Amino acid sequence: MSNGLDDLLTILRFPSVSTDPARTGEVRACAEWLVAKLRALDLAVTLHETAGHPVVVAKNAHRADRKTVLIYGHYDVQPPDPMAEWNSPPFAPEIRDGRIYGRGATDNKGQFMAHLRGLEEALVREGDLPVNVIVLIEGEEEIGSPHLRPFLETNRQDLKCDVVAISDTGMVAPGVGTFTYGIRGIACLEVKVRGPAIDLHSGIFGGAVANPATMVARLAASLHDDDGKVTIPGFYDQVRPVQEWERKAWEALGDSETEILNLTGAPELFGEPGFRERERRWARPTAEINGIGGGYQGEGSKTVIPREAMMKISFRLVPNQNAGTILDLAEAHLLKHRPRGVTLEIIRGHTGPSYVMDPHSPLGQAARRALEQTFGGHVALIREGGSIPIVQAFKEILGVDTLLLGLALPDGQIHAPNENFPVQSFHDGVRLNQNLLKELAV
Ligand code: BES
Ligand code: MN
Repeated sequence: MSNGLDDLLTILRFPSVSTDPARTGEVRACAEWLVAKLRALDLAVTLHETAGHPVVVAKNAHRADRKTVLIYGHYDVQPPDPMAEWNSPPFAPEIRDGRIYGRGATDNKGQFMAHLRGLEEALVREGDLPVNVIVLIEGEEEIGSPHLRPFLETNRQDLKCDVVAISDTGMVAPGVGTFTYGIRGIACLEVKVRGPAIDLHSGIFGGAVANPATMVARLAASLHDDDGKVTIPGFYDQVRPVQEWERKAWEALGDSETEILNLTGAPELFGEPGFRERERRWARPTAEINGIGGGYQGEGSKTVIPREAMMKISFRLVPNQNAGTILDLAEAHLLKHRPRGVTLEIIRGHTGPSYVMDPHSPLGQAARRALEQTFGGHVALIREGGSIPIVQAFKEILGVDTLLLGLALPDGQIHAPNENFPVQSFHDGVRLNQNLLKELAV
């Protein structure tokens, strides 16, 4: 029997970019490969169609006297661009210096494939698993899981379980077992700023009409004060303060500021005044411009007043903020700050709520024991800044908590060029899966 790495390299070859309509066929091919892989393990597998990319569900033979664990992952990936920055092609995975390089290596193929490998080994060795397992791998996480919530609602009975386990978050450092008991939510918005009906000569018409590129910059600048605090009225009103034990647990991890400087290459840290670095990323909401543009972007100069300019914004949300409320407040703020001489179109994008659970609960403790057995030593208790939009829906629709047992390393470059996953992390993930199922069985 191979050690499972071959399967990981195979699935990494599918360019399953969920946001790219040109890749629809390749996204499906990836799902179909997974179906075949899971069938070969003798699981009962279904490929569920949705209005978007398909969902893969697999189950072992369930017994009424056992716990049921739902293992969630996503087979879709972020776009690979900028292509020129990759040292090896994003969809031709390569192992260099003990790391697997490729889009999806960490986020999320490497991590859920480690779970599948854990199941495979246990099934081959023992012919059975310690628990009932439901494997649910979706293809739309990176676009906000738009069809998974209705899928959970329709298949509520079929997906009934005691707990969800996900490896799609980070570790504080290599070899340090990390339990993530909270993640931020997200709410996206796009703004189009329109001025003249056509692009104009900036000499002939400049001075007579408003320039949409200038105005989108003004709007972007209106979102924060000079120190980085979000200026949208009411933005922070619902934020639940960090509890004392959390602050202590995070302090115990030591200083993160140097690490963030090293990881990001930024010249200095910048963020909402009055909060430590980790709290800013894990427990405070933010407003980020993810894209801004308009006008000439090519070589040299072109004297034009563009007819339109745009920006894409995402807000990261924390307990107890509500995505709809935040988008309402943001829209009101943008309209109030609408510069003269242009019109605005505000387009709401996808949203996903934040999630937080009690890591001291029995399930949390079982997960932490599994991490201890896998990595040895102390388990870090953290929240994370990233989002997994479906997690809160597991709570609301299936009524269960989610254990976030991430394997992503700080330098895994997820969403960026040269995404990578250590071979060691894959093997650790296999053991984590097996330790976790044993701990959850009792
Ligand atoms: N795995 C990430 C989320 C993540 C990464 C959480 C690191 C914690 C630590 C996930 O695949 C992701 O990137 N989610 C998107 C969701 C969005 C596009 C709806 C995100 O957070 O931007
Ligand atoms: Mn991701």
